[in-house]
Amino acid sequence: MAAQPHAPSATLQAALNEVAADIDRRFDLLLEVPDDPRADLYRAMRHAAMGGGKRLRPMLVNATAQLFGVDRDCAGRTGVALECIHVYSLIHDDLPAMDDDDMRHGKPSTHKAFDEATAILAGDCLHALAFEILADPLTHADPYVRVELLADLSRASGPNGMAGGQMMDLQAEKTSFDLPTVTRLQAMKTGALIAAAVEAGAILGRVPVEGRKHLRGYARDLGLAFQIADDILDVEGDEELAGKALRKDENAGKETFLSLLGLDRAREQARMLVDQAIAHLASYGPEADLLRDIARFVTARNH
Ligand code: IPE
Ligand code: IPE
Ligand code: MG
Ligand code: MG
Ligand code: MG
Repeated sequence: MAAQPHAPSATLQAALNEVAADIDRRFDLLLEVPDDPRADLYRAMRHAAMGGGKRLRPMLVNATAQLFGVDRDCAGRTGVALECIHVYSLIHDDLPAMDDDDMRHGKPSTHKAFDEATAILAGDCLHALAFEILADPLTHADPYVRVELLADLSRASGPNGMAGGQMMDLQAEKTSFDLPTVTRLQAMKTGALIAAAVEAGAILGRVPVEGRKHLRGYARDLGLAFQIADDILDVEGDEELAGKALRKDENAGKETFLSLLGLDRAREQARMLVDQAIAHLASYGPEADLLRDIARFVTARNH
């Protein structure tokens, strides 16, 4: 059989399938369509949240939580909260006012399947739902743990995290940024939520802040490698596999790692970041193999 450079390891593939099924099941229960005038709002959330996406962030929560023997349902609930923020960010990212994309996960983006107002509100609701899930005692019995999860995810989503990074990303179409600025932009836009997923696993595991240094280093390098891979896929990827429009960044004149480094150096940089991410896990044994596999997968992936 031909080698498949893009395929995740069999263990990671099995874990990703399991997480994907679990997240779909959780969204199905959370987003039951009411028999009232809000029905389309729920349908729009289901459209965006179910049946697509790699579920990388919930996978990271699970793989990190697993290191510390965290209850699987607590990790699953936390994972779906992270995914709520991610999906909301994609709904808004695709709006005409932002990237104006008609396709996501191989189907019409939410504002195309419904309308812009419904898509905006579906995003707003998923944003709120994330915090509602984390604040629920079912997510963790200890209120201190819940507050820490809430504080970390709100920081990662707001002006110092994803939304702030999205603002800088819009500016990157109009201004030429240097490499440190693009790195900061990407660390906020994409890195913050990826880091929050790893951090959440450690918070659930009651790892003290001093004990999270290596995991934070891993998450930071992973987030940057992930975004470089997204930028490379934007240039070289297959739209069918990606399930979204590609060749967008260059057409928009957007400053990215690729526009600054060129393809070869960007690829080299991503490889180096993956090695570095894995090196941060040196103090862990085979129990961290899933995190190592995830790091290799983010740059090998074809979608
Ligand atoms: C895409 O993220 C948007 C970025 C943050 C670069 P993913 O590639 O994780 O999205 P899905 O959910 O798997 O489609
Ligand atoms: C989106 O980045 C990042 C967030 C939604 C926070 P992109 O605009 O590059 O993502 P794609 O390429 O549309 O998935
Ligand atoms: Mg964008
Ligand atoms: Mg986009
Ligand atoms: Mg992109």
